[in-house]
Amino acid sequence: MRLDTNKITSYQRWFLYHLAKQKLLVTGVFVGITIVTFSRVLIPVIIGLIIDNALLTSDLANLIGLLSLILVVYLIRNVMDYLTMMVGHYLGLKTEQNMRQEFFDTIQYKPLRYHDQAQTGDLQALATNDLRIINTMISHGAFFIYPFFQVIMTLILLIMTLDIRLALISAPFIVVYVYFLFDYRKKIAPFAAARMVTHSNVAVVLQDSLSGAAIVKSFTAEELERQKFSQTVVDFRDNRIGEKRVQSRFYPLLTIYLAIGCTLLVSCVFVFQNTLTIGVLTATNLILITLIDPTGMIFWATNDMMSGFAACSRLYNNLSMEEDEHHKPELSKWSENFQGSIEFRNVTFAYGNNENTTPVFKNLSFTVEPFQRVAIVGPTGCGKTTLVKLLLRLYEPQEGTILLNGIDIRNYPLEALRRHIGYIEQDIYLFSRTISENIAFGKPNATQEEIRAVAELAQVHEFVREFSEGYNTIVGERGTRLSGGEKQRVAIARAFLTDPEILILDDSVSAVDSETEEKISRALDNVVQDRTTLIITHRLHAIRTSDRIIVLKHGKIVAEGNHNELLHSSEDYRRIFGKHLVLPELTVKKS
Ligand SMILES: Nc1ncnc2c1ncn2[C@@H]1O[C@H](COP(=O)(O)OP(=O)(O)OP(=O)(O)O)[C@@H](O)[C@H]1O
Ligand SMILES: [Mg+2]
Repeated sequence: MRLDTNKITSYQRWFLYHLAKQKLLVTGVFVGITIVTFSRVLIPVIIGLIIDNALLTSDLANLIGLLSLILVVYLIRNVMDYLTMMVGHYLGLKTEQNMRQEFFDTIQYKPLRYHDQAQTGDLQALATNDLRIINTMISHGAFFIYPFFQVIMTLILLIMTLDIRLALISAPFIVVYVYFLFDYRKKIAPFAAARMVTHSNVAVVLQDSLSGAAIVKSFTAEELERQKFSQTVVDFRDNRIGEKRVQSRFYPLLTIYLAIGCTLLVSCVFVFQNTLTIGVLTATNLILITLIDPTGMIFWATNDMMSGFAACSRLYNNLSMEEDEHHKPELSKWSENFQGSIEFRNVTFAYGNNENTTPVFKNLSFTVEPFQRVAIVGPTGCGKTTLVKLLLRLYEPQEGTILLNGIDIRNYPLEALRRHIGYIEQDIYLFSRTISENIAFGKPNATQEEIRAVAELAQVHEFVREFSEGYNTIVGERGTRLSGGEKQRVAIARAFLTDPEILILDDSVSAVDSETEEKISRALDNVVQDRTTLIITHRLHAIRTSDRIIVLKHGKIVAEGNHNELLHSSEDYRRIFGKHLVLPELTVKKS
């Protein structure tokens, strides 16, 4: 259930699209409101009739009939009030549920470019607070619509059945009343909109600060963080104060009281002149009094409405940012005789889309043959990780093509492309789940034996043995309960398990001790056979055993060859590895 922003082009349409999914419930609410409002204004009219046609004429039969009628109308009104409220709440909850699922589904398929700029705290606020506010708006929508229905019905009744003169007297007040309602709506809107933003800011600072708890402590930055948080809390409070200020100047009720006062005065005069019956006087004034209740409701329903639309706008804007990356590819399935050659052909890529951003790569071209083991080395920030992200189509190059097995990667279904490339990322992310679940992440139906086998291969088994919970140990958020080296080994096992044709290890930052490194290298040696492997590393063993080494610098290939060749031919290569090499090795190779 993903949002298609090509079809739904504004937040208003998005909102209506979700309401349209619940046509039955929406109709139910409208029917309910109509019946409730109608019965509400009917009661004063019946009371008027009782006075004029039963009490003043001492007509007992009529009195009993009208009293029974009033009883029935009251009953209908109460039952419908209850039903409308229930249906309204159900409609709100159902829409909230649909929107929340759609939000998650849509966000999941957003490209990495979207996630680069998104703030977790803000997304969390959108998925919880903003959606709850939309629910409230829908559930309380009835309360917002009531007064308008009521006003219209009052006027109709006054003109058609009661007294046109009284209608003319109360009409200007009612016009002013409606004007004030809209004016209030306009004034409260900015505060209602800012409420979500200020709320989200609290969540963003909270999330950022808590995630970085270890850093905050180690830099003794608690006080600074406290101030930052305190500022967001104050902003949230100030916005609410502003909202309350607008609320305190709520004029519609005043207009209703003025209308009631004037109409009562004038109708008394009419009664004295014998041009108005006491029954009509009572009915008219009671009808105006029925406007008081819904006006009180609209007082807070307007806030709900305005915040609800502001939340819709925030959510829609977020969901429509950056196109969905899953377009329909040309090939419907993965090629059977996939060999795993990789080719970058004149690839130019920059993270930003504007002209001023310096590209990470400009016209980059290279080829990796099937089953080759290629190491990519180069100074920090030269684009090694970016290269892998392009291959995985986490980002799209602005120019040039990337080919796998001679076919443009854009032609493969995205899921298949990523499933066939095993990726051990530089900045390893583990889920706050068990070790077993983390290893089986790419293959949830893997058996315990399979998991155990890759775990042994990746030297995971060795440390898991020590844990009392074994493979069922929960690793903590981002894998915080494991050491850097342990995390890396779990990630290696995770990538091995899916048995990918292409394996990529981004290992620019060394994370394991030399003993483990040797074990991992051995494990790697075992699994890299029969697959194309890209290793981004500065580990000597991995480099020496590679078929070819590509040296990157400033997004360009400055040298290529094997270890020995490069030691002689490339100054850049020597600069990277010179410090790792013992002198005799250098001299021996040179001679
Ligand atoms: N998500 C991003 N948005 C914008 N710029 C980015 C992003 N990721 C990386 N960069 C920039 O792109 C350049 C290449 O980054 P990349 O991560 O590919 O370097 P690297 O060669 O992997 O470095 P290292 O050896 O430190 O891992 C850097 O200048 C970096 O600042
Ligand atoms: Mg990197």
